[in-house]
Amino acid sequence: MGDSKKSGGLAGVTAGQTALCTVGKEGAGLTYRGYDIYDLADNAGFMEVAYLLLKGDLPTQAELDAYVARIKTLRGLPEALKTVLEMIPAEAHPMDVLRTGVSFLGNIEPEGDFSNQGDVADRLLAALPSMMVYWHRFHADGVRIDTETDDDSVSGHILHMLHDKPPETLHQKSLDTTLILYAEHEFNASTFAGRVITGTLSDMHSAVAGAIGALRGPLHGGANEAAMELIQKFDSAEAATSGIHDMLAKKELIMGFGHRVYTTSDPRNEVNKRMSRTLAESVGDTVLYPVSEAIEKVMWDEKKLFANADFYAATVYHFMGVPTYLFTPIFVCSRITGWAAHVMEQRSNNKLIRPAADYVGPDLKAWVPIAERG
Ligand code: COA
Repeated sequence: MGDSKKSGGLAGVTAGQTALCTVGKEGAGLTYRGYDIYDLADNAGFMEVAYLLLKGDLPTQAELDAYVARIKTLRGLPEALKTVLEMIPAEAHPMDVLRTGVSFLGNIEPEGDFSNQGDVADRLLAALPSMMVYWHRFHADGVRIDTETDDDSVSGHILHMLHDKPPETLHQKSLDTTLILYAEHEFNASTFAGRVITGTLSDMHSAVAGAIGALRGPLHGGANEAAMELIQKFDSAEAATSGIHDMLAKKELIMGFGHRVYTTSDPRNEVNKRMSRTLAESVGDTVLYPVSEAIEKVMWDEKKLFANADFYAATVYHFMGVPTYLFTPIFVCSRITGWAAHVMEQRSNNKLIRPAADYVGPDLKAWVPIAERG
């Protein structure tokens, strides 16, 4: 059986090298290219972080201005892609819409020989929010929106398209901060899926489509939507406390808690929780935030499990009027930076990723002709 139990789900297995990110490293915590996530969350905008991840270092003001201007020119969607988005049913999940959108873009704007990989990354960074909100507004409101807004930030662009007006500063800045926190996380499941695809020398659109498929699941990015649905089940902190006790007694998973790498806390949670509280106050919420805190307390008291990045991100998005089914797609609009940076890093020193398995099937059997099988 070898080490298969110990390394179930590849837990604790080092599967390669990266210069992009540390997760829970002694004395470092969560860092992107050497910068502490708290410094980035407090001081940077998401576009600066995108530049850091995709281009290798923080931009100067002139570099940032040029990058923002460039990304703004890449937000438009080709007519053929709009047609595809309109054909995807209203009942679809927008994660599936983005997976299809990226895949289709790979047909009409193929990557080619990788010499323009940075351009492909920029195009996806610019176009994913447009795809997400174009599809949503077409099906939810029956309108064909203009995706070429003049907002400098991705967060402003998303909220502007969603609500047909430039966003309040508090909302734009809060969304921007969640994008910073979601941007990169080392060899998480979706990034690793993207690196496996990249390792075969496939194209960036395939790697990103595969990564979207991995992120979609509730054990990964899909947890933010599942957390919102859980929080909304309760109408008071007391109901949440007893409800979560019941769920734990039934050994149910509580979405938005626990982590494969972190053992005592997720550093992103502190920032999300603070923003959730501020936004709760701003909208006069007296239910969802107290319910969230009650769930967090039971999980810690009973299981020593802590809220991860997805738990309070849920109410942050909810309080600014984002529909729940767009929570994980918004995660995509951020993580595209980490994914694309990993695709480029994998290519820079590529080796096919092909691990081994412990065989647990039957011993060699004699062939039985079909007429003799019982
Ligand atoms: N709710 C209830 N119990 C949980 C839990 C949760 N959210 N997360 C972990 N546990 C329990 C497991 O049931 C297990 O208990 P056991 O030892 O009695 O079997 C124990 O804690 C260890 O969990 P395990 O599933 O082995 O950890 P993992 O590293 O494989 O899984 C996650 C990590 C993130 C998949 C897991 O914590 C989870 O499913 N969380 C909910 C989904 C989520 O929020 N995902 C987003 C991650 S950022």
